[in-house]
Amino acid sequence: MTTVTTEPIPGQKPGTSGLRKKTHVFMQRHYLENFVQAIFDAIGGAGGKTFVVGGDGRYFNDRACQVILRMAAANGAAKCFVGQGGILSTPAASHLIRRNGTDGGIILSASHNPGGPDEDFGIKFNTPNGGPAPESVTSKMHAAANEMREYRILEDHDVDLSRAGPAQVGDMAVEVVDPVADYADLMETLFDFDAIRAMISGGFRIRFDAMCAVTGPYAVEILENRLGAPGGTVVNRQPLPDFGGMHPDPNPVWAKMLMDEMWGANAPDFGAASDGDGDRNMILGRETYVSPSDSLAVIAANAHLAPGYAAGLKGVARSMPTSGAVDRVAQAKGLECFETPTGWKFFGNLMDAGRVSLCGEESFGTGSDHVREKDGLWAVLMWLNILAARGQGVAEVLASHFAQYGRNYYSRHDFEGLEVEKAEAMLGKLAAKLEDLPGKEFEGLEVTTADIFAYTDPVDGSVAEGQGFRIIFLDGSRIVMRLSGTGTSGATLRLYLERYMPGPDGLDRDPQDALGPVIRAADEIAGIAAHLDRTTPDVVT
Ligand code: G6P
Ligand code: ZN
Repeated sequence: MTTVTTEPIPGQKPGTSGLRKKTHVFMQRHYLENFVQAIFDAIGGAGGKTFVVGGDGRYFNDRACQVILRMAAANGAAKCFVGQGGILSTPAASHLIRRNGTDGGIILSASHNPGGPDEDFGIKFNTPNGGPAPESVTSKMHAAANEMREYRILEDHDVDLSRAGPAQVGDMAVEVVDPVADYADLMETLFDFDAIRAMISGGFRIRFDAMCAVTGPYAVEILENRLGAPGGTVVNRQPLPDFGGMHPDPNPVWAKMLMDEMWGANAPDFGAASDGDGDRNMILGRETYVSPSDSLAVIAANAHLAPGYAAGLKGVARSMPTSGAVDRVAQAKGLECFETPTGWKFFGNLMDAGRVSLCGEESFGTGSDHVREKDGLWAVLMWLNILAARGQGVAEVLASHFAQYGRNYYSRHDFEGLEVEKAEAMLGKLAAKLEDLPGKEFEGLEVTTADIFAYTDPVDGSVAEGQGFRIIFLDGSRIVMRLSGTGTSGATLRLYLERYMPGPDGLDRDPQDALGPVIRAADEIAGIAAHLDRTTPDVVT
């Protein structure tokens, strides 16, 4: 065991979802070690504890796993469960933490950000409930990192992670586990695999794009092996350290290959994609895009069709920028509905307290209390279960949902690679004039409320302030603006746009067209073009 003298490294501050930096930053001397020691220090030490360790397989994942195991051993941990090859999807890691009752887990991923020596890497700690550490814990990590003077590491050979089974690092036991098996078994308990299998054998065609990221082996096992979809249903199925050069973010821009197929001749009935670490999802039908906010609402309305949710939902939650479509379902069904800040960690307390069983975010995240992370394949299986039970296609399900509840037209515009000072200056000016906005009209829309979202956790009373600008109009239309907390360079402005139409007319418009006045009002109010010198967003979802 060696105690290594080190110094605090600036910038080790976890963001929306753990600490994310360029890979070469993480590969700097002491960088990873400092932060891992900060994690252990922040949770009161690792002595006698049990952890889950694994990541999405991106470049440096394998080396980082070995370092973490040797540091866990040197810090006195009793045992680590590690995914074979150091691989675990984020939802599978969450499940393992819960199933084995561990003291938490260390997950290596930068989620949907590209991987490789010149791209991104990340690390986050999940608490014993299986969910991302809340701010009370991440701020302790940041504080510990800022005072880091020494870390403990064992000098030992690498653990052989290539085979499942027991191993040893110093005095610490290691169990190398099949990353897929437990997770796939869990999915079988939640969904009607027989009904989905029958739908597939009846000719229903699926395309799943794993984007050369972690979900490949999971999707092959579940969709092809267990549900009988033909070989080749899962494309880009081989996880690669650089994701094959892909940007593993399942949205219309980055999953273009899948979009083209779903809009092409001979398109399959159902298309889906997941991200780097398997917690995000995008759902598509033939020539049909399901906005994540609508997906959440459709799931809320239909979850009872899946065996794991037959008794009904306990309640639902969405992040503030996510559209209010799910609120309408909750109201109709008499369910409690919560609005939280961006970040899955804010759902954990609500799920632990049994207040909600379904959560979702506009950022392509959907999940339930089966784990404490969002879960890409879970959402795919939920949709397949709903389609099988209703005997309808994606477009039909959406159309009937809008007919019943009305439609919350929704879009997110991202302006990426901004100079941080410029973006902050723009929002600073907006903050200064928020008070004056109510009563004013823009593009024929009258502002009723303008504020900065703050959240008080109803379970533990913790308060999160500064969670995004909200401008709400008389007709219910809404503009939300905030800076992304998951990027690794510059600033990304996220502009979220929403407009409700009750129907029966106007339910099948192009969202960008339907949102036209709201988009123009946003620019008028915040001066995006003037401040940022950008007229078109880089990503539109
Ligand atoms: C991650 C988090 C989500 C969050 C998303 C976008 O996926 O797990 O909870 O919604 O990032 O966050 P950002 O701060 O970039 O908008
Ligand atoms: Zn992710």
